[in-house]
Amino acid sequence: MKILTIIGSPRKKGNSYQAAKELEEEMKRRGDYDFEYLFLKDTNLEICRGCFNCFAKGIKFCPLKDDREMIENKMKEAEGLILVSPVYAITVTALMKNFIDRLAYLCHRPAYHGKNALVLSTTGGIGLKETLNYMEMITGAWGYKVTGKCGLITAPWPATTVLKNKNTNTLEKSASKFDKSLKSMNKEKTGEMKVGFKNYLNFKIFQKVTDNVKEYMPADYQYYQGKKYYQPAQIGIFTKILTEIMLNVVIFMMRDMVPGDEKIEKKQKVVE
Ligand SMILES: Cc1cc2nc3c(=O)[nH]c(=O)nc-3n(C[C@H](O)[C@H](O)[C@H](O)COP(=O)(O)O)c2cc1C
Repeated sequence: MKILTIIGSPRKKGNSYQAAKELEEEMKRRGDYDFEYLFLKDTNLEICRGCFNCFAKGIKFCPLKDDREMIENKMKEAEGLILVSPVYAITVTALMKNFIDRLAYLCHRPAYHGKNALVLSTTGGIGLKETLNYMEMITGAWGYKVTGKCGLITAPWPATTVLKNKNTNTLEKSASKFDKSLKSMNKEKTGEMKVGFKNYLNFKIFQKVTDNVKEYMPADYQYYQGKKYYQPAQIGIFTKILTEIMLNVVIFMMRDMVPGDEKIEKKQKVVE
């Protein structure tokens, strides 16, 4: 199985890379994995200009012609992704943040369902939780099933034995979880996977909102139109009923934000 590891540290062979290599060793002890490393430091990835074209019109309208597409092709080829960033001022590095901004359109139109991700971070001491949670949220929004958050403390002085053992333990546990999850991804691919209420509701909200704003966000509209879910999946009858009820509630609550729903507009006029 192919795993793509994207390193967001400007220090190419720094603590985060060392941690990623240890994780690779742990993974290879458990299965037949082929690792590829991509250093954001070595890529040509311009800063997002904020034109909004990727969201509204589609990614092919992004005016920046650089390595973004090459990176996404690598993400598509791999079964799993390991996203790595050290903590810089309580969050990811600027390299990682720019990469995330450049793929922000995926938060509207996820393309990586059926794939698995693990997020990895190293820190001098603080900001680990915030950084890991952020990377988990982003990779999840891109469609990945995030099965591991691996955080290591790598202080700028020699690690104590206790800390070394703690880090080894964390790496082993993360590798074990990621390995198991990668090996059980068949359900996600064959459509046997059951979708939970929360995920289904999120999908339906996006679908409904993009329908209401189709003139402004045609790329989102095209992506959601006619889709049952992001990937082939089973949706239980109770999930469907509950989602339909909650969807109406959520859309009503969003009535000041989202234009175009006739019924809601009429109700508002009566109240006025
Ligand atoms: C600019 C900069 C900002 C940092 N910010 C934090 C921080 O907010 N909290 C922390 O505990 N460590 C911080 N560190 C320490 C790094 O997170 C830590 O040394 C990390 O392991 C470096 O990984 P690398 O060698 O892969 O770059 C910072 C380091 C740098 C260079």
